[in-house]
Amino acid sequence: MTKIAMLGAGFIGQMHALSFMSARMTRDLPVNPELTTLIETSANHALAENVAKRYGWTRTVFDDWEGALAERNHQLFVNAGPNFVHVNPSIVAAQAGAAIFSEKPLASTADEAHRLWKAVEQADVKHMCAFVHRFIPALRLARDMVKAGELGEIWAYRSQMLLDMREPDGRLTWRFIRNQAGGGATGDLGSHHIDVARFIVGEVVEVSGRTMTRLKNPSGDDAAVNDDSFSAIAVLDQGATATFEASRVLAGHALTGRIEIDGTKGTLAFSMERMNELVFTEPNKGPRTIMVTANTHPYGQFSLPVGIQGAHPIGWHDAFTFQAYHMLSAIEHGTSLDPDAATFRDGYRVAETVDAILRSAASRQVENVRFRN
Ligand SMILES: NC(=O)c1ccc[n+]([C@@H]2O[C@H](COP(=O)([O-])OP(=O)(O)OC[C@H]3O[C@@H](n4cnc5c(N)ncnc54)[C@H](O)[C@@H]3O)[C@@H](O)[C@H]2O)c1
Repeated sequence: MTKIAMLGAGFIGQMHALSFMSARMTRDLPVNPELTTLIETSANHALAENVAKRYGWTRTVFDDWEGALAERNHQLFVNAGPNFVHVNPSIVAAQAGAAIFSEKPLASTADEAHRLWKAVEQADVKHMCAFVHRFIPALRLARDMVKAGELGEIWAYRSQMLLDMREPDGRLTWRFIRNQAGGGATGDLGSHHIDVARFIVGEVVEVSGRTMTRLKNPSGDDAAVNDDSFSAIAVLDQGATATFEASRVLAGHALTGRIEIDGTKGTLAFSMERMNELVFTEPNKGPRTIMVTANTHPYGQFSLPVGIQGAHPIGWHDAFTFQAYHMLSAIEHGTSLDPDAATFRDGYRVAETVDAILRSAASRQVENVRFRN
């Protein structure tokens, strides 16, 4: 049994609650999560009450997150709050002995992410950062193909994450404000694809970045608004070049997520809108679409037997379910979190990379990404 406490009942908190419930349906080793305590530290009590009722949280705690997390009643703390509450509640929960599952970016700055990683390591609890792309079967297969040498030597990685996250009324929520979210498009969106580059190809060692901010702050304080678009070129530790681009203000994009990996033997291409497919192009063969839905593919037999009815496509929720299962299995069966999942070490390293891109955009210089132990 894993008793869970979670901070945040917003978009992603609801996705996690849904996914913990779905993870129970696995055909793998069984897991037994209990949605014990939902914590809300904003004034939005009505939302938390509604979510607690819909998902079956046993109790809802308002404001006193410290008391709830210090009581040693939970085996897992899920931090699904805004970036600026990622650090202190997670440290308190870790010191009370709970495993920690935190949303990305791990913190608003690399300094804060490093403080969190070190504190949780010192508490000697399991930790996982929610870079959910690692649980999309097509990207897991891409990682396996690259590691098996099927693409040859990797020379280039490129990615784009393009959205329109503007509120219809022009309001700016916490994620648009630098001292609450940290980086904007860089930290919120770029962090995902930076982690995918690290997961499949290699660590980022050098970056050159540019950012743009077009949104205006209704309060008049435009300087408080973080970047709403960025592009960066980078070098990875095994010598490949990488490009990252993301924007949250593009009217023509709902959720464009493109990743391409070029090796000396071929190219892999992934698109979030066709998340069951991986397109493999080899010289003189043209593109070949691999439907990543077979029972031999990652998570191909997770909850339903793949048999006479064929292999059905999956969705974003499934990736969250696989991620939730990975965390629960580590707690209940002692399975390893890494290298398949991102730990807080990965979360910290991505935060360091985001900071380097922002430094480069400000200085207009190439920046090295330096990692602390
Ligand atoms: N892994 C992913 O793909 C993914 C997707 C979306 C969001 N996220 C991450 O999840 C986290 C939450 O994002 P979200 O989209 O759910 O945001 P959201 O604004 O929808 O929800 C945030 C929740 O935190 C609560 N909260 C608690 N303390 C608060 C405070 N002091 N001020 C304001 N709100 C407070 C809010 O009431 C709300 O319930 C962020 O770190 C974000 O980067 C990750």
